[in-house]
Amino acid sequence: MIDTQFPAGFIWGAATASYQIEGAWDQDGKSESIWDRFTHMPGKIVDGLTGDVACDHYHRWQDDVALMKEIGLQAYRFSVAWPRILPDGRGQINQPGIDFYSRLVDGLLAAGITPFITLYHWDLPQILQEEGGWASRTVSEAFAEYTDVITRALGDRVKHWMTLNEPFVSAYLGYELGFHAPGHTSREEHVAASFHLLLAHGLAVPVIRSNSPDAQVGIALNLSGQVPASSSLADRAAAWQSDGLNNRWYLDPLAGRGFPLDIIQLYGNPLEFIRPGDMDTIATPIDFLGVNYYTRKVVRSTIVPEAENAPREVFINSNLTDMDWEVCPEGLYNILGRLYFDYPFQNIYITENGAAYPDQIIANTRIDDPQRLAYLKSHFEAAHRAIAAGVPLRGYFVWSFLDNFEWAYGFTKRFGLTYVDYPTQRRILKSSAEWYRRVIAANAVID
Ligand code: FCB
Repeated sequence: MIDTQFPAGFIWGAATASYQIEGAWDQDGKSESIWDRFTHMPGKIVDGLTGDVACDHYHRWQDDVALMKEIGLQAYRFSVAWPRILPDGRGQINQPGIDFYSRLVDGLLAAGITPFITLYHWDLPQILQEEGGWASRTVSEAFAEYTDVITRALGDRVKHWMTLNEPFVSAYLGYELGFHAPGHTSREEHVAASFHLLLAHGLAVPVIRSNSPDAQVGIALNLSGQVPASSSLADRAAAWQSDGLNNRWYLDPLAGRGFPLDIIQLYGNPLEFIRPGDMDTIATPIDFLGVNYYTRKVVRSTIVPEAENAPREVFINSNLTDMDWEVCPEGLYNILGRLYFDYPFQNIYITENGAAYPDQIIANTRIDDPQRLAYLKSHFEAAHRAIAAGVPLRGYFVWSFLDNFEWAYGFTKRFGLTYVDYPTQRRILKSSAEWYRRVIAANAVID
């Protein structure tokens, strides 16, 4: 008797993003994105490589859909590259770009795989960066126009839409840390970008609904529990602040609560870019929340000197992935529970979860990845426990369907269920994918 049976109708899938897999960066009328610009600048990417070719999915999508079918995926989350659809960011439509995604959607449906589309997974048309990128309100308005074009074209067949992927990462890593495109280092731009991303989301929701009336609309946020390193007041305050920066800054406005006051105060930003009605736009109800979860964060106060703080009680366990991220399935259970108790979202999907490990090909034919399998298994079990506790979790997307271009890490990190040999573009299903196929078939966590 299997006691990790998932509810009937639970959706098992895998995810990717346009820039990380497509390649064809300058083909068929596509314009340059901020990631094309960024990766072509020296010193930005660990291995010096770019996503010019990546997994060449743009040309190999039919084989890739066949592989998805082989794994038994019920759903596939992918993103649309805005610069393929509107090379100028707005205005003139590039039909070959639309045709590519239209064929992909038809191919998925023919294979019995439900498409879940993310409208923005970080590849902003470079031309819109020239007007300030996400620090500028005009870009939120352009996003609504882009959303209109693509949902008009695909809204008849695609019924699950996410506006944005991880606005926190776009805004913070892109505009303040400079670790991601466009590589800026301004706190002010970060805060403005976070707002304009949320505004873009809010403007897009009714557009999607009007072009695809029975669609489910959501957003994918990166959420992780911020755990105090000790029970000292200083550590608890630091963890709460970290939660505000990472989680509440996005969750609260979406839930109609406005930006969290403690973080407004911390930023010391007058938020003058907010106009009357904007916070209501952002709070337009959504059908589901997408959760991208990888690890938790243990937070130690930097205000109280180490010697004066209470001794650490919480330690990062030594089980780390190749990203040096702590393996902590309990953190997934906790974040799901917290969402259930503190927020009004009626449906939740895990829109990303997975692990990078340095896979080795054996005898040129197979990849055994027991660590990835163990990672996924423990997180599936945590998700199952969350459902048993009442969390309305509807589906699970493993990151990622394919090994791919891992942003600033280039091709040095492999997250795929499918191994990609980049020089030949050969794909090989890893043993975790074979196992995942059996999980999907059983709709239960199996050994
Ligand atoms: C997330 C991104 C995704 C991938 C994973 C590892 O932050 O959304 O594109 O890079 O991390």
